Amino acid sequence: MMREALIWMSRSQAMGRMMTTNPIAWSAASRFVAGETIEEAIDVVRRLAGMGLMSTLDYLGENVTDEDEAVRSCDAYLNTIDHIRSSDVESWISLKLTALGFDISDELTEGLLRRIIEHAADGDPAIFVRIDMEGSPYTQRTLDMFYKVFEDYSNVGIVIQSYLYRSDDDVETLVGKGAGVRLCKGAYSEPPSIAYPDKKDADEAYRRLTARLLSDEARANGTYLGVATHDEAIIEWTKGHAADNGIGPDEYEFQMLNGVRRDLQRKLVADGYRMRVYVPYGTHWYPYFMRRLAERPENIMFMARNMVREIGK
Ligand code: FDA
Repeated sequence: MMREALIWMSRSQAMGRMMTTNPIAWSAASRFVAGETIEEAIDVVRRLAGMGLMSTLDYLGENVTDEDEAVRSCDAYLNTIDHIRSSDVESWISLKLTALGFDISDELTEGLLRRIIEHAADGDPAIFVRIDMEGSPYTQRTLDMFYKVFEDYSNVGIVIQSYLYRSDDDVETLVGKGAGVRLCKGAYSEPPSIAYPDKKDADEAYRRLTARLLSDEARANGTYLGVATHDEAIIEWTKGHAADNGIGPDEYEFQMLNGVRRDLQRKLVADGYRMRVYVPYGTHWYPYFMRRLAERPENIMFMARNMVREIGK
């Protein structure tokens, strides 16, 4: 109930305007968001690298309704790529198609996406571009766009959400193509007609999809899996499954969100696993922050404590 309410609030533009100009809300959001500028985000990437953690940078934004704004998002990504190269750090990038005008037209989005992927490919090493997965109205369109650009570029990958019933079939198609996949549970509010209402079923699907994406066939085809979860039980299961099947820790990676389970992130690295942190930055942090609150209701108490502390100053 609370989760649905927070996800619903994440779509309110009026709330977004109110929150993003409120320094107290920012002080809570900054646990998850690296900063409002690319320089601050690069500092975080550098600090993570110092601890053996890899990064993927996300310039925050989604559901833009104005073509100029979509072009500005694209420019911000081109600038992000330039900063990664000139700062001599290593990072992937992650993006949402609705930040590139997916609500306006596929043609607009495809043109901007291709500019970003080409710019990311134009260097050594090429920078990998991950297309995030958004709510279910975009699932098929996002996959179709991915399949189109994947025909021309190898430095691009996609995300699959284990809570969707359709994901077994989508994973089969992706394995057939040898595509790079980030597997997550799914962060949106979806009806039981298309997504498991029970968390334990989505968790079971997560294990099943992980096994398929790590299979001999998938790896032989070129699929490289990012296991994106903070769920310790699933992480332990993945480590065991990989070891039992002779899959080395360099044949897949774990991924977590900036500011979530930092202890576990460092432990995985200390134990010899690959670990990548999703590092979002920019001023449009409101919907992203609300989804983080929805994932863990205790985060609301954390925000409330911050507010009380700030007001008391
Ligand atoms: P689960 O929700 O079961 O949480 C397990 C434990 O992790 C919790 O008990 C808690 O300790 C900790 N935890 C989880 N979320 C937390 C939070 N917000 N704050 C504090 N602690 C938290 N989704 C999507 O729909 N499309 C996408 O493209 C992506 N991309 C993506 C990238 C990466 C790198 C990650 C890690 C996640 C995503 N997600 C996503 C989000 C994902 O779908 C999911 O909502 C969150 O990861 C939470 O689910 P867990 O797998 O962590 O498990």
